[in-house]
Amino acid sequence: MGSEKQGFIWLSGLLFLNILVLSTADVHYYEFFLQESQFTKLCSTKSILTVNGSFPGPEIRVRRGDTVFVNVHNQGNHAVSLKWEGVKGSIDGSNELIQPGTNFTYKIELKGEIGTLWWHATSAWAAATVHGAFVISPAANEDYPFPAPTSDQTIILGQWFKQELTEGDKTIAPGRADAYTINGHPGETYGCSNDTTFEMQVDYEGLYLVRVINAVVNETMVFAVASHSFTIVGQNGAYTKRSFTNSLTLAPAQVVDVLLCANVNVGHYYITARPSSGTYITNGILRYLTTSS
Ligand SMILES: *[C@@H]1O[C@H](CO)[C@@H](O)[C@H](O)[C@H]1NC(C)=O
Ligand SMILES: *[C@@H]1O[C@H](CO)[C@@H](O)[C@H](O)[C@H]1NC(C)=O
Ligand SMILES: *[C@@H]1O[C@H](CO)[C@@H](O)[C@H](O)[C@H]1NC(C)=O
Ligand SMILES: *[C@@H]1O[C@H](CO)[C@@H](O)[C@H](O)[C@H]1NC(C)=O
Repeated sequence: MGSEKQGFIWLSGLLFLNILVLSTADVHYYEFFLQESQFTKLCSTKSILTVNGSFPGPEIRVRRGDTVFVNVHNQGNHAVSLKWEGVKGSIDGSNELIQPGTNFTYKIELKGEIGTLWWHATSAWAAATVHGAFVISPAANEDYPFPAPTSDQTIILGQWFKQELTEGDKTIAPGRADAYTINGHPGETYGCSNDTTFEMQVDYEGLYLVRVINAVVNETMVFAVASHSFTIVGQNGAYTKRSFTNSLTLAPAQVVDVLLCANVNVGHYYITARPSSGTYITNGILRYLTTSS
């Protein structure tokens, strides 16, 4: 009797553990449609290759250890493949081009990756517009190894060309872009009144996990927020030793995760992004929503 009961307790313990293990790894399915879309920036309109009509493309948001299937339907006019920056394991078929009119499913099995990764078209001409964030939160039963942020914000630094990029643009020389963008917004510095400015809204004393991705092909970018400093907590899909800085310098394809504490005088502050060698500066705005008491 006693051992039967013990056996039952042991068995239900095992089942419970099993459910715990199973519930910590999820499987996600994403559908990406590669398509041409019209965009107007710098007062001129052109067609660009996008995923689902957005620039930057859709964000993937999962937890550590999850498995992600991304079914890419190529409705564009050119063969394209996607690269998964920062994913450690190998991905079947990741070198194959997806021909127009066909689709291909990437299976991404995450292991220890944590923080921020990103995806982009492999070829330079398409990567300028086909890219997006790949956010990996801690597993369900896992905490951040730093104070838990109030919320998080993805910032993708990109570039914009007035001219259409084609397959002939196998490389993109530094300084060729007509503008730099923050989450697709060129901001007010390029002299076109129709251009939009990126805005990040914060609450006073909120703590924000800001994920900065340098998606600018071939250029080192400098990122800063006036009157604010950052605590670097992660890089390229891994936690790092914490360090403090007033500005971030990101190599091409680099990702840095920082904590930003909204603890200065309530107001609005310029967010700036510029190529490390170059004259353009792109602005965004950090805006405080509540007043301090
Ligand atoms: C892309 O668009 C398709 C069709 O509208 C939609 O079903 C799919 O969920 C979208 N994918 C993402 C990642 O938003
Ligand atoms: C600016 O936007 C207005 C209103 O949407 C539009 O009528 C105008 O053509 C745009 N100008 C340019 C140069 O894109
Ligand atoms: C193409 O998409 C269809 C429908 O979404 C799916 O059933 C099929 O498995 C996909 N093919 C590949 C090679 O991913
Ligand atoms: C980056 O620019 C250099 C110098 O112009 C060029 O040689 C290289 O191919 C470019 N790389 C890419 C990925 O465009």
